[in-house]
Amino acid sequence: MPLTGQHVVVLGGTSGIGLATATLAAERGARVTIASSRPANVERALSTLPAGTTAEVADLTDSNQVADLFNRLGPLDHLVYTAGEPLNLTTLDTLDLAAARDAFTLRYFGALDAVRAAAPKLRPGGSVTLTSGTAGLRPGPGWSIAASMCGAIEGLVRALAVELAPLRVNAVRAGLIRTPLWSGLPEADREEMYAKIIDGLPLGRIGEPEDAAEAYAYLMEQRYATGTVVTVDGGTLLA
Ligand SMILES: NC(=O)c1ccc[n+]([C@@H]2O[C@H](COP(=O)([O-])OP(=O)(O)OC[C@H]3O[C@@H](n4cnc5c(N)ncnc54)[C@H](OP(=O)(O)O)[C@@H]3O)[C@@H](O)[C@H]2O)c1
Repeated sequence: MPLTGQHVVVLGGTSGIGLATATLAAERGARVTIASSRPANVERALSTLPAGTTAEVADLTDSNQVADLFNRLGPLDHLVYTAGEPLNLTTLDTLDLAAARDAFTLRYFGALDAVRAAAPKLRPGGSVTLTSGTAGLRPGPGWSIAASMCGAIEGLVRALAVELAPLRVNAVRAGLIRTPLWSGLPEADREEMYAKIIDGLPLGRIGEPEDAAEAYAYLMEQRYATGTVVTVDGGTLLA
């Protein structure tokens, strides 16, 4: 198994897509470290992962905590960044510019900062995989900030792939995935959103975290793709 003995660090690995990726990497023989900001989430996730997995608490919006985290972790082979917050969707008439700027703090600047801290510790043959979404290419009304973050991450991936080569830098572009990210929505609204999206989606179902995890595992294991984005969206971009 290509990940056997490799150290995989999943930032945001305590929930949803990150937890599924951590689980799959561990099943494929990696030594996994997960990290996120809330100790209870870290404990809960750790209890579901195989023995040998380690976990760290770090708020990735705090640059000092990011630097400390990578000093504690030592060398690694693969960095996966899936940390994210629920989206605040808003049309221009209700746009709060300060909130829009804040939205980039974790998903974009957190990712940039984590790669900066991790890069000197990534072993030869290693990789970075960031997270984008189909909203960057197929947004709806109200998705301007979310779409911009996806575009920014995909641009970052291409630039870092050049700068950090021969380390590989890629992203996964996810369609709608059923994770706790959406748990803030009232259940009825959430189910209505899922139903609307399923209607007309070529694969006819919402994605599961395990669907996305396969793409992160691929981008860690393969040896010749860099600066690229793998879409896992059930056909969203075609619908
Ligand atoms: N689910 C989807 O439909 C979908 C689609 C496209 C793209 N995405 C993107 O994929 C990524 C993962 O989403 P998900 O659905 O797996 O979300 P999720 O289940 O809510 O997981 C988010 C993770 O981020 C961590 N996190 C939040 N704030 C943090 C902070 N300040 N520092 C460190 N960690 C933090 C959370 O743990 P703590 O709360 O403990 O910190 C959690 O582990 C996000 O960037 C999301 O925008 C998701």
